[in-house]
Amino acid sequence: MTPVASALLLVAFGASHVLASPVAEPPVAGPVVTSAPSLDNVLQKRASCTFSGSSGAASASKSQASCATIVLSNVAVPSGTTLDLSKLADGTHVIFQGTTTWGYSEWTGPLLQIKGKDITVEGASGSVLDGDGARWWDGEGGNGGVKKPKFFAAHSLTGSSSIKNLNIKNTPVQAVSINGCKGLTVTNMVIDNSAGDSGGGHNTDGFDIGSSSGITITGAKVYNQDDCVAVNSGTDITFSGGLCSGGHGLSIGSVGGRSDNTVENVTFKDSTVTKSTNGIRIKAVAGTTGTIKGVTYSGITLSSISKYGVLIEQNYNGGDLHGDPTSGVPITDLTISSITGSSGVQSSGYNVAIVCGSGACSNWTWSGVSVSGGKGYGSCKNVPSVASC
Ligand SMILES: *[C@@H]1O[C@H](CO)[C@@H](O)[C@H](O)[C@H]1NC(C)=O
Ligand SMILES: *[C@@H]1O[C@H](CO)[C@@H](O)[C@H](O)[C@H]1NC(C)=O
Repeated sequence: MTPVASALLLVAFGASHVLASPVAEPPVAGPVVTSAPSLDNVLQKRASCTFSGSSGAASASKSQASCATIVLSNVAVPSGTTLDLSKLADGTHVIFQGTTTWGYSEWTGPLLQIKGKDITVEGASGSVLDGDGARWWDGEGGNGGVKKPKFFAAHSLTGSSSIKNLNIKNTPVQAVSINGCKGLTVTNMVIDNSAGDSGGGHNTDGFDIGSSSGITITGAKVYNQDDCVAVNSGTDITFSGGLCSGGHGLSIGSVGGRSDNTVENVTFKDSTVTKSTNGIRIKAVAGTTGTIKGVTYSGITLSSISKYGVLIEQNYNGGDLHGDPTSGVPITDLTISSITGSSGVQSSGYNVAIVCGSGACSNWTWSGVSVSGGKGYGSCKNVPSVASC
């Protein structure tokens, strides 16, 4: 036997020895090799590492660059710390198993951070990332009260990265921030903050997206108390097959007054918005500059909308429809088609409100918009002729 071959056998023996030990051992500091690569691949492939318990987060952060697969099994992240996977090797596969929890601390977070190229993040069947947000909820969200940590910074994910089947529950404030990403697919994510409806959840945005391109979110279910999706900037972004419940609807913006004020080629399609303040909302901040171009809403079903079925405004100032609209953030090449839901808006709400600055809304396509149940909005301004308001 050559020396190389005997070394390979030793590696393989060592791995299978670890495999044979009981699963319920106390957490260990280093990576546990849970599967032995085949002899052919042992020199090229890095290990699969499993981390668990209260030391799991620190151990995972420490070893992240040397593991091809990272399994986070029932990790309890200590208070005031981030489960930090921002130095992953290209192509790493991250799997959440069981329940991931975080200790309580009044800080800004994030509780989870993942960054890298060609990264796959996956929630195993039955797994949950439980923010236990009720410990922070005071009805004030990010506007006051105790300092609340943001939940998941999905920042600088590039190449062909994906996040699949992640089940997120009860975030203290905003749930998922997608920023600086280029090439990210999010599939079947559940963000369930419904306990916050009566429990003081506020500003619990589902997805906040900024300065990103090539983002596809499909099959998401968001139960929350703020925007289901808010695209603040970015290009080539699609949200489809989604359900939004309890929050503020499918939003562009607010756009204007940030470091990046360009939104281009964003599509929301084949989705349902229910029990929400708004269905569709495009918010351009008055007195600022920017671009909202090539946005499409198509195949959106509305039900139980309390304030606005469709709201497009160039006079947003932190609140809706405040003061005179301005023209610095034009809304062009907008398509609103097949927006349905008879009596989708409650009787005290408005079906459609459009308030544009002079010449600032142009080249719109408007078809199959049948939103009913609410009132007409009496103060529409500079509405493109194809639209009705
Ligand atoms: C938006 O889409 C149009 C039409 O497909 C394309 O020509 C344009 O380059 C896109 N814009 C960006 C910023 O990718
Ligand atoms: C109007 O919209 C169409 C379709 O989105 C687009 O191809 C065209 O370039 C737009 N024209 C202007 C003047 O913006």
